[in-house]
Amino acid sequence: MEDRTDPRRSRPRSRSTTTGPPQRPPPSFVEQATVTDPTIHDAFDDEWPECWERAAGLLEWDDPYETVLEDEDAPFYRWFTGGRLNAASNCIDRHLEAGRKTHAAIRWEGKRGERETYTYQDLAIAVDEFAAALRGLGVEEDDVVTIYLPMIPELPIAMLACARIGAPHSVVFAGLSANALATRMDAADSEYLVTCDGYYRRGDAFNQKSKADNARLSLDQEVSTVVVDRLGEDLPHVLGDSEWDYHDLRTRYAGESVEPVSRDAEDDLFVMYTSGTTGEPKGVVHTTGGYLAHAAWTTRSVLDVKPEDTYWCAADIGWITGHSYIVYGPLALGTTTVLYEGTPDYPDRDRLWEIVDRNAVDVFYTAPTAIRAFMKWGTEYPERHDLSSLRLLGTVGEPIGPRPWNWYREHVGDGETPIVDTWWQTETGSVVVSTLPGIDEMKPGAAGPPLPGIDVRVVDEDGESVDPGEPGYLTLARPWPGMARTLYDGDERYREEYWERFSDPEADEWIYFSGDTARVDEDGYLTVLGRVDDVVNVAGRRLSTVEIEGAITDVDGVAEAAVVGRSSELEGTELHAYVSTEGGVEPGEDLRRAILAGVTSTIGPIARPSEVVFTPELPKTRSGKIMRRLLEDVARDEELGDTSALRNPEVVGEIQTERQNSD
Ligand code: WT7
Repeated sequence: MEDRTDPRRSRPRSRSTTTGPPQRPPPSFVEQATVTDPTIHDAFDDEWPECWERAAGLLEWDDPYETVLEDEDAPFYRWFTGGRLNAASNCIDRHLEAGRKTHAAIRWEGKRGERETYTYQDLAIAVDEFAAALRGLGVEEDDVVTIYLPMIPELPIAMLACARIGAPHSVVFAGLSANALATRMDAADSEYLVTCDGYYRRGDAFNQKSKADNARLSLDQEVSTVVVDRLGEDLPHVLGDSEWDYHDLRTRYAGESVEPVSRDAEDDLFVMYTSGTTGEPKGVVHTTGGYLAHAAWTTRSVLDVKPEDTYWCAADIGWITGHSYIVYGPLALGTTTVLYEGTPDYPDRDRLWEIVDRNAVDVFYTAPTAIRAFMKWGTEYPERHDLSSLRLLGTVGEPIGPRPWNWYREHVGDGETPIVDTWWQTETGSVVVSTLPGIDEMKPGAAGPPLPGIDVRVVDEDGESVDPGEPGYLTLARPWPGMARTLYDGDERYREEYWERFSDPEADEWIYFSGDTARVDEDGYLTVLGRVDDVVNVAGRRLSTVEIEGAITDVDGVAEAAVVGRSSELEGTELHAYVSTEGGVEPGEDLRRAILAGVTSTIGPIARPSEVVFTPELPKTRSGKIMRRLLEDVARDEELGDTSALRNPEVVGEIQTERQNSD
């Protein structure tokens, strides 16, 4: 594989946006907030690591843990060791026992305007029956079950059914391609798949089953597949060998109950594949006790969610945000979580506000990419609806500049509602940086201080803390309960990817490197600047440029490709692809189309570049490395960085001209 260590691309760079003036949460919010004692930050430092017992205390344990944190084998930390619990019974059974059977657990809003409410009792029945069905298909404890479903109730039901029988789930985002599904199933050696016939996209029936079929064809292992009939008559399908209909199974196992398997705190709860520095997705492993404790604790203290709330995280469960903040966190607290299948602009651009209004949503959590779209559409859409039920707003996934932040507060939050800008990652499991809304001032454009107990350090190349205001690498100098435990592909890769760069194993000093750069101000507030690795964040979704480049170079006629992100406060991040063709191949519209189709079929439509620029050559160093850093400057219309190391400096000018011509 190509060596991508180009020193010029990995240096933290400054972003021009500054943070806006601090703002206070209104007294009406503070009065009712769950966490209001400002000494919580000091208390966590003083009592560390026992402070995290406050999080563990939100759960029901079958056997109490003996040790809060075991760090002998760092960076392979173990939390709440000796403890036993079941995640599904924490999210369901204990609420039934507490007399909350009829309380709404899930309010589903389907793409065609369908609405369904699952009470905790309804959820318990569905999860029990499906858990029994999975067992019936042969699923045993620790078998990985892959779930490839859109945002329908069967998705959280399948996850919780897996958790109930101690089978780790691997949810693959429904919009990913057959190829991406196969890669993930193969990597996890998964022999069970839960999918559906199809789903609606803007009213049209879209075939999901054919993607699942194609994935299965390319796998060596036998796969038992459960198919949810989402489309009924709109997409009739026939079941083949080793395929079962979800509803038939539910009928066959109707009324069955399954004793929740008591899992060790450190037993796997799930694996979630995400993009890394190579083209191979990383299988991030989360375990049961620490993950669930951290998810529940942050849902309560950061998102201020209370059991009586109707809470809505408008993310997709196919990514970590949905795991922690649609499913596990809110259900562990016994609240009502909204599950939304559609897009924000179908049937109209007020769809989300209509749902907030109708369900009297208390807390709403979304991504900056959505907020930027709302801004473009205009204020008339939120204005059409009564949004006064909203008590707190949240954002996650990418940096949010002061302008979108202020717009969100003004037009969705009526100028009053506090906002939490939460920084975290698939690997951190749950939020690790955010203001605590009942305590801290908010600064538009800065995520906030680290949460209590979290030790963020922004450091230079040598691991020394940088001065306030200076860009540096975002690291975490202490473990936390929700942290990933390893990668499914092996401990060694985990250690290398996250712990090698800044740790000093000789001194037994372990520093987690997030892959992000950031700046921290005098008050310890963090502004995240971006990634330093080959990962780009488009619309809050994490993609690997290496993987996209691979998909492009697989297209006939393409010689080389470099993909970079272009970010701006109002547009977010777009992908730009720079492509050179093989000798004798004329670049043009046909090739551009073939490239876009290639990316769609290899990864999925979310990875399609918004611009494809053809160039006779890519800029390279004398040792032959592509200088992506310069292409980033071109994509951003910025002044070019140092070109002295280039073998072919003239090509950068040519690329700039080509881009302008193609506009
Ligand atoms: C990357 C993690 C966190 C769940 C969704 C994405 C970026 C995340 C913020 C934020 C600036 C953010 C980082 C991070 N990111 N939250 N509040 N401000 N950047 O999870 O797919 O693992 O991506 O998203 O670059 O490393 P993910």
